[in-house]
Amino acid sequence: MDYKQQIADILSEKTGLDRENILKLVEIPPKQDMGDYAFPCFVLAKTLHKAPPVIASEIAPAIDVTGTPFKVKNVGPYINFFIDRSALASDVVGRIVAEGDDYGSSETGAGKNVIVEYSSPNIAKPFHVGHAFTTILGNSLSRIYRKLGYNVIRMNHLGDYGTQFGKLITAYRLWGDEEALNKDPIGELLRIYVKFHQEEKKDPSLTTSARENFRKLEEGCPEEVELWQKFRDMSLVVFNQLYRRLGVEFDNYNGESFYSDKIPEIVDILNEKGLLVESEGAKVVMLDDEGLPPCIILKSDNTTIYASRDLASALYRYRTYNFDKNIYVVGGTQALHFKQVFAVLKKAGFDFADNCEHVAFGLVKFKGMTFSTREGNIVLLEDLLDEAVSKTREIIVRNAEERGQDMSEEEINDISEKLGIGAVIYTYVKSGRERDIVFTWEDMLDFNGDTAPYLIYTYARTRSILRKASDSGITGIENADLTVLTGDDEYALIRALSELPESIVKAASSNEPFMIARQISEIARAHNRFYNNSNILNCDDEKLKTARLALCDAVCTAIREGLDLLGINVVERM
Ligand code: ARG
Repeated sequence: MDYKQQIADILSEKTGLDRENILKLVEIPPKQDMGDYAFPCFVLAKTLHKAPPVIASEIAPAIDVTGTPFKVKNVGPYINFFIDRSALASDVVGRIVAEGDDYGSSETGAGKNVIVEYSSPNIAKPFHVGHAFTTILGNSLSRIYRKLGYNVIRMNHLGDYGTQFGKLITAYRLWGDEEALNKDPIGELLRIYVKFHQEEKKDPSLTTSARENFRKLEEGCPEEVELWQKFRDMSLVVFNQLYRRLGVEFDNYNGESFYSDKIPEIVDILNEKGLLVESEGAKVVMLDDEGLPPCIILKSDNTTIYASRDLASALYRYRTYNFDKNIYVVGGTQALHFKQVFAVLKKAGFDFADNCEHVAFGLVKFKGMTFSTREGNIVLLEDLLDEAVSKTREIIVRNAEERGQDMSEEEINDISEKLGIGAVIYTYVKSGRERDIVFTWEDMLDFNGDTAPYLIYTYARTRSILRKASDSGITGIENADLTVLTGDDEYALIRALSELPESIVKAASSNEPFMIARQISEIARAHNRFYNNSNILNCDDEKLKTARLALCDAVCTAIREGLDLLGINVVERM
């Protein structure tokens, strides 16, 4: 149960203010002795014609707390609510132990469809660290929505169409190397694409040939379609390896090509509504009244364009899924594009445009890191992952040596892969998404910092305490008397645990996974303070020992579940 909500209920009944209003006003006092929540009475002064301290002194004693975990006291103009520690411990820890992985899940989204479009790389182009941002964010968001009961449709809007495929077909026929293509599809496709642009400067007939080939592709000519299909399939093999490594999945890969035959209908609709106008040979929708540049729908040679494919895609998504929300996880550099697309939909009378949202993110930067990148100055995700895993491996091996720990090669590899990839993913989701990310090895692999290795290490160490407890025959953790968990460190930790469900709700409403990252990071910090200051396995008091073990179990559940929502796997020992 959310304590703030409970307080809002109580206060709403007593004051007649509406709950939403109260929820906005309730504060968390800076000091523990001022209570856990405080309600300032200033808003009531006008209607009640009394001074706020007088109001507080009249309301506080009149609140009936039976059946709640609260004690109430007025201090100055505030009504302060103190949570009863025993009641809180039984409630929160009891619930986590009982619910396990379901802790924090809800049915809010039952019966509602949410489309999360993410990753959407371009076929035949390297998968770089910017595509990793959308892939990781989108994966996390789809997990978060699912946790809240939504039916999530994960879409990969592949960049598999457009004039560049005409160029690739021309280039492949001239310079393509089948063997190289099989070995390193994207490397080879990039090579001939770059060559095309170099040669095109000297030989303008290449431009004509490329345009011709794209036209044939749009018309469905079998030879061009076959080549395009081959480029697409081979690129997907490469992308799928990365997706598997990141634990990312999709429900469909309806890329831009999928919508090309659905564009005539869009053109008809826009025509009927009188929205389509001619401009320099192209067909556009004017968006002056929205303060936006015109949106091009058809180019002067009548071929389709990125925006028209997005219009067709939005309509298709609406008809197929009747979505409650249609989310595009795409870089902030495309903000204007999405504003235009949504504005055109709205002008055409599609009210579902209001349920479409561009979830933008920042740029990816590196400090003091070099990569053996094969493709110019962009950083490939594969290189970032490989480097992260190999650096993690060095740390794991060193730590194991220092501790005199015996680990099999297989174990070292498994832990390094999970921690290294976790460290990369966590760096993408630990801050507000619109901020640029700066990767440094020191920050990312700091086992004491705000990192995935720190969280996973905290988890694994706590699991090891629980294993030791069970090995030494301790039982009854599920039925422990949790009311004894009232110490300051225990209380702070339990408070942090109690806030996880709300952080999930907030992460969904703002499409910001970092809210969960921040919460589990706080849980881990609070847990480590508790762990360092208290006896757990050596606790003399048997009742307290069992309760503390239950608390450890709850911490493990919370960290594992929280990380899972970010798309990160834990390890059981390290
Ligand atoms: N393929 C594009 C790119 O790599 C991103 C596609 C974004 N999604 C969309 N529906 N337009 O830049």
